[in-house]
Parts: sequence; C-alpha cells; structure tokens
Amino acid sequence: MIVDLDGLAGVGALLARALDLPEDAAEADVLAARLAAPPSGRVVVRVGASDGTAVAFASISDADPRLGHVELLAVLPEARRRGVGAALLRAAEERLADLGATRVRLGGNPPCYAWPGVDVRYTPAVCLARRAGYEVTDTAWNMTADLTRLAPANESGTDEPRQDGKRLDEKRLGEARLDEARLEGQGVKVLPAGPDTASWVRSIWGDGWAWEVEESLGRDGAGCYVAVRDGEILGFAAYGANRPSWFGPMGTAPAAEGLGVGRVLLRRCLADQYSLGLRSAQIGWAGPIGFYSKAVGARVERVFWMYTKDL
Ligand SMILES: CC(C)(COP(=O)(O)OP(=O)(O)OC[C@H]1O[C@@H](n2cnc3c(N)ncnc32)[C@H](O)[C@@H]1OP(=O)(O)O)[C@@H](O)C(=O)NCCC(=O)NCCS
Repeated sequence: MIVDLDGLAGVGALLARALDLPEDAAEADVLAARLAAPPSGRVVVRVGASDGTAVAFASISDADPRLGHVELLAVLPEARRRGVGAALLRAAEERLADLGATRVRLGGNPPCYAWPGVDVRYTPAVCLARRAGYEVTDTAWNMTADLTRLAPANESGTDEPRQDGKRLDEKRLGEARLDEARLEGQGVKVLPAGPDTASWVRSIWGDGWAWEVEESLGRDGAGCYVAVRDGEILGFAAYGANRPSWFGPMGTAPAAEGLGVGRVLLRRCLADQYSLGLRSAQIGWAGPIGFYSKAVGARVERVFWMYTKDL
C-alpha cells in the first residue's frame, strides 16, 4: 500500500540499499536530508510503501507551478518487479496534479536536487519511465574532475614520488600558477565569499544560484569564493550546496569574461574539496564541457535523460 510519509526515519538506510550506483548509495543520507530542506516557495511530497520497502520524493515550486518533479524513486532490490515502483510513480503524479501540475519531469528541481534527470545507467528506471509514458525531452551531464592530479604532489608539497602512483597534471598546474600570477598583477584578489555574495549572484543569475551560494556558506563540506577588484565582485564559484562531492554553480560577470577568473575560482574550490578528503569531484549539471575539460581535465561521466510527461 502507498502512504504519505511524514519524517525521514529510515529513508537514508533505504536509499543506501536501493540506489544501485555506489556513488549515490554512499551519499544516501545527505541526499535524503538535502531534499527534505529545500528553498522556500516549494512543496515537497514524500510517498512510500507502507512496509518500508520503497520511497519517492516529488516537488513543485512557485517559480513554475505547473511543472512537477519526481526527484527520486527507489524500491529495495527484494521488492522490485511487483508493481511498487509504478504505483509510487502514479501516487507522486497524483499528488503533484492535486498541487496544480499539468506536466511532470523525472528529475531534479533546481537549485536543490539529487540529479538533473535519470542517470542512463539506472536501466530499470529508464524502463519504468518509458512504460509510464515519459519521453526524453532533454539531456544533462556531470563532469568528473580527478582531484589527485591537480593536488600538491604530497602532503608536504615536495616533489617526492606520490604513494598512489598517479602522475600530476604538470601542464595544468603550471597554467594555474600563471593564471593566479596574472590576476594578481591586474589587482584581482580571490577571497572567501562574504555576506554580500548571494545578492550579487541574484542580481545577475537569479534566485536559484543565489540559494546555492547561501547554502555553501558556513556549512560543513561546502564553500564559495569570489574574485574581487577594487571592491567589485567579478565572479564566484561554489561547491557543496547540494552535497560535498559536487562542484557548482560558478559564474563570471559578463564584463570580466576572458580574464581567467573562472579557471582560478574553479581550481580554488576543487583544492578545498581535495583538502576535505575527496579524491574526485562532480561538476554537477555541467554547462560548457570545453571550459571544464581545458581548465582541469574534467571528463563527461554521468549522463542524465530528462523525462517529461503531460498529466
Ligand atoms: C526503478 C525502480 C524504482 C523500479 O521499481 P519496481 O518496483 O521494480 O518497478 P515496477 O515493478 O513497478 O515496474 C514497473 C515497470 O517498469 C519496468 N521495469 C522495472 N524494472 C525493470 C527491469 N529491471 N527491466 C525491465 N523493465 C523494468 C517494466 O516495464 C515494469 O512493468 P512490467 O513489469 O509490467 O513490465 C527500481 O528498480 C529502483 O529502485 N531502482 C534503483 C533506483 C533508481 O533507479 N531510481 C531512479 C532514479 S531516481
């Protein structure tokens, strides 16, 4: 039987077993907590199987009150192929329709989300989506940055051989040093973000990214930097707002494009993530592939189909 869920009791543990991709299972608790604490102006619906074998999160936001999102759907392996997933999806769709949705997307409701869409490797979910009448209307991707290739050679910063046997990306490290020196020569400083950063981000890119910046300040496993010249912010980059391993968003003011501010801010965040113990970072819902590939050797790794259906 499908029921509405009040709290989060047991949800993290369920997700840890029900999410087939190890990188998602490892972040199950963070995901559950993140989706349960979204920005204002959003209604979150949680439904589950009454025997505790399945859960779904869905949401709808004031920003687009006709578009509902089924953000996460998970059934324990031993309870699969008995119609539970399909029943949960129907229940989530009904709740969203009651809230005014005329269209539903299987995927994240930015700026607070688990994934942009369905990772193409979740094959049963892909089958379920097609069976339920959804169509792929867009594609999104994450890029992976190997932090070990960008980090100092070892903890003491000397050139002794690294224990993990990996080779540093000397070319990009050299470029990074040049970029930093060039910006310094132009009077640009890179600083931790301050209380004025979110409102500056809002003025250029809107509420979504501003929320992510707010969420990246003063949180464990998160951070944000700005590039500043003569007291004026030129660009920002943040990480950890949705979860510690994810980088983003970042933006450079149109007038400052081409200075190299973005590259320097990106590397500063990735260096933080490395010092927090991460060995790779996800550039979440990434935009310009060429920029991230050139700047830090990131590669496209996770690909998400964004399924949509009219109700
Ligand atoms: C995707 C998932 C929720 C499906 O749950 P489920 O309870 O097994 O799904 P159902 O039994 O209701 O299946 C409904 C339909 O989906 C399709 N389907 C589901 N699993 C399938 C599989 N392994 N292979 C082929 N088709 C499948 C079928 O069309 C099925 O209908 P049918 O059996 O009448 O043909 C479950 O596999 C799961 O939790 N996977 C891991 C988490 C995940 O991928 N979540 C999505 C990302 S948020």
